Amino acid sequence: MSANPAYLAPGEGETVFSVSASPIKFGAGALRELGADAVALGMKRVGMFVDDHVLGSAPGQTALAALRDAGVAVEVYDHARCEPDSDSFEAAAAFARDGNFDGFVSLGGGSVMDTAKAANLLASYPDELIAYINAPIGRAKPIPGKLKPHIACPTTCGTGSETTGITIVDLKSVGLKTGIASPLLKPTLALVDPTTTETLPGGVVAACGFDVLTHAVESYTARPYTSRPRPAHPSQRPPYQGATPYNDIGSLAAIRLGGRYLARAVRDAGDVEARHQLMFASTLAGLAFGSAGVHIPHAMSYAVATLRHVYRAQGYEEREPMVPHGIAVVINAPAAFRFTAPANPARHLEAAAALGADVAGAKPEDAGEILAGAFIALMRETGLPSGIAALGYGETDVPALAAGAYAQQRPLVMAPRSVSQQDLEGLYRGAMRYW
Ligand SMILES: NC(=O)c1ccc[n+]([C@@H]2O[C@H](COP(=O)([O-])OP(=O)(O)OC[C@H]3O[C@@H](n4cnc5c(N)ncnc54)[C@H](O)[C@@H]3O)[C@@H](O)[C@H]2O)c1
Ligand SMILES: [Fe+2]
Repeated sequence: MSANPAYLAPGEGETVFSVSASPIKFGAGALRELGADAVALGMKRVGMFVDDHVLGSAPGQTALAALRDAGVAVEVYDHARCEPDSDSFEAAAAFARDGNFDGFVSLGGGSVMDTAKAANLLASYPDELIAYINAPIGRAKPIPGKLKPHIACPTTCGTGSETTGITIVDLKSVGLKTGIASPLLKPTLALVDPTTTETLPGGVVAACGFDVLTHAVESYTARPYTSRPRPAHPSQRPPYQGATPYNDIGSLAAIRLGGRYLARAVRDAGDVEARHQLMFASTLAGLAFGSAGVHIPHAMSYAVATLRHVYRAQGYEEREPMVPHGIAVVINAPAAFRFTAPANPARHLEAAAALGADVAGAKPEDAGEILAGAFIALMRETGLPSGIAALGYGETDVPALAAGAYAQQRPLVMAPRSVSQQDLEGLYRGAMRYW
């Protein structure tokens, strides 16, 4: 069985791609402009979702002062769960509904920005969460209309959620992590101040940094947009188009920045250049995957993140045991890229070269191994676990992991190569232990 429709021959498929770029403000000090931006969007009374670690720190205080100095009333919600679940989304939605706000601000990592997106949706158009969740897990109900303005301010250098139309949740009722995807979920403004990353623990930077690299490499190696059928009407063009020449630019730049700065940013919190550049890479990669789509490593990550909660990652010691998103993704990446490389060896080699690997004299059949090797070297250098066995998984878990990943058809159809549930079993076995 195949999860991925066949490629159309050149000239028979899609010939058009679109770019719906989000407004972005980037740079040290950008957070001080939050109040002026909120006023410009017509916000007088704001519900602010903030990370509990960030609230008392300099970025939290800067954001609150900027809003208040601009005359904007603020109510704060700091209970968003790290790697949110359905209960956490429902509680945040109740805050958003009861507060009668005319706009939202989120200041935190992907967990906080995603919580704000979901709360904005559920408060604006109340329904059960499962109604909006991607099919086949949920009912994929279209979002009825525009949401309230939302300014998203990331404080981790990872998810790119500040520009994406996606919110990810651990759905307790079905025991799977999945999401809601719609252009209407895109924040109104991405306000990216890289100084917010200076207080991140090294272990969190490692997890986030690999989220950036996998977003970028998956977007770059996604099936080309020209391999999809042409839509009958422009409105039916899917939000995830596959690799396009526009996304390729951001993906490659993000891979180069990640290759150059990730290890430095993990090692030394004082390496401001490395952390700021990784934040820029995160935004570039978010823009790329938000329009190209991600594929197998992300599809596999959701099962890795939900089936067992026994792992404690460095930098997440105070949280309940769980596999942080970036680790849940990259742990599958070497196995997945070994599998996808034969579909497009040139792109896999270009990605490896951008990461810093030596590709001189490489043959097409070496592409998967070289890209996998580049990931493994960086994973070892930054103290990541050696495979899914180190997260508590064994051979008996493989069928359940593969079934969970196979349900993630939204990312799987973007893979450059068809992938069956049986293939996924093989990929999890390949991800068990890399060194
Ligand atoms: N919507 C999207 O497009 C998208 C994309 C990728 C991932 N995600 C989701 O995002 C979530 C992960 O987000 P994340 O990786 O940004 O991490 P996170 O938001 O879960 O935060 C990780 C940890 O870092 C702490 N933290 C955050 N900012 C800090 C700062 N400046 N200083 C000190 N500590 C800080 C948090 O308190 C937490 O303990 C997952 O649920 C994942 O599925 C969403
Ligand atoms: Fe991700």
